[in-house]
Amino acid sequence: MPCSSVVGLQWGDEAKGKIVDLLTVEHDFIVRYNGGANAGHTVVRDGKTFKLSLLPTGVLSPDKTSVIGNGVVVYPPKFTEEVSNLKAAGVSVGENLVLSNHAHVIFPYHMEEERLHEGAANGRAIGTTGRGIGPCYQDKVGRLYSIRVEELLHPQHLQDRLVTIVERKNRLLKALSSEARQFDAQALCEEYLGYAETLRPYVRDTNALLLDAIKAGKRILFEAAQGSLLDVDHGSYPFVTSSNSSTAGIWSGCGVPTRQLNRVIGVIKAYTTRVGAGPFPTELLDGPEGIGEKIRRTGREYGTVTGRPRRCGWFDAVAVRYSAAFNGADELALMLLDVLSELDEIKICTAYELDGERITRFPGDAFQLARCRPIYESLPGWKQDISGIRWLSELPGAARRYVDRLAELLELPVSIVSVGPDRSQTIFARLTR
Ligand code: IMP
Repeated sequence: MPCSSVVGLQWGDEAKGKIVDLLTVEHDFIVRYNGGANAGHTVVRDGKTFKLSLLPTGVLSPDKTSVIGNGVVVYPPKFTEEVSNLKAAGVSVGENLVLSNHAHVIFPYHMEEERLHEGAANGRAIGTTGRGIGPCYQDKVGRLYSIRVEELLHPQHLQDRLVTIVERKNRLLKALSSEARQFDAQALCEEYLGYAETLRPYVRDTNALLLDAIKAGKRILFEAAQGSLLDVDHGSYPFVTSSNSSTAGIWSGCGVPTRQLNRVIGVIKAYTTRVGAGPFPTELLDGPEGIGEKIRRTGREYGTVTGRPRRCGWFDAVAVRYSAAFNGADELALMLLDVLSELDEIKICTAYELDGERITRFPGDAFQLARCRPIYESLPGWKQDISGIRWLSELPGAARRYVDRLAELLELPVSIVSVGPDRSQTIFARLTR
């Protein structure tokens, strides 16, 4: 049974949403398995732009079942808001959306905890999205203070738990800062019981649902949030998110054994971006008139969730070779190629220099990555608008060489090239290696 995964191979914002949207037609279930409302998916469909941060992109296709797996951390007000925005835009949301009873719930004290930690990090802040993601996952692993979606549906149980948890959280927050916000268990309980009624119709044992679907030969598409270099185990730790944002998260995050996967599509941008702190060897810090700023402006590189300007730089083949390998990528979707169209020359990082030595392996520790200097090769730009091109053979020679060179360096075929945000601005390449 065909199960596919769409996964970002850089530091997020690779335009995965567009690929998920394109592939949705070939699948019956679309599953999110990690992260929460820190993600930002922008999908342009028939000239309409949809921005989602918690709901799977698949929800835009009401004939498919969209699943929020147990590995996702859910902020109920965001869930409610996104569902009602979609309904207001005429998208039908009902039985086609299911939420795992075992997903963990984000409360406002998680956001307060994050704010205090980040504010006190003395130059070592992670630059998080402020959505309470990290503290919620901390509580999940810590076990004492976390609340799962199922628990919201049992009022007395929820109240008992919140009384204990909020008292403890208030003390912890006060210890972090005398200015810390304090919370009222009763008020929180009432507020969340209200959300629970909105959530209730969507809540299911999604793991059983997906395993039954597999038995019935249904086709499942897994939609990763964030990029693999932000994966808590395999990314540039500690400047990462708190979940497994690579294919590694599928099994734990929705209960489907990864051996069911038979297509892993690694999504890459034609350049690199990063939001938040952390090392970024190919970052372009060349000022307001420089290429970094040009890419930011042309690619509209501002965070979907936070609006923060994204840091921009050249394509890093060392980093992507590493992430493609640990994700088990079979093929590549190359996004935003059109953004580079105005440049005279385009660089690709093919190795790093670390302590006077040339290395081609990606260092697993941020403090070492921070000391790596990029070694580039240069290719000529194509200096021509490619956003109307639909066939690989029609790309200007220099653009084709750039695509082929990436495929060669990454040792993977490029199966999709995106030349604009709309669905139609896509080249389905005869696989190029
Ligand atoms: P958190 O996920 O909010 O804890 O943030 C941890 C790091 O991941 C920060 O550098 C964020 O900017 C980054 N991050 C989180 N979600 C996304 C995303 O969807 N795209 C890009 N970066 C993200």
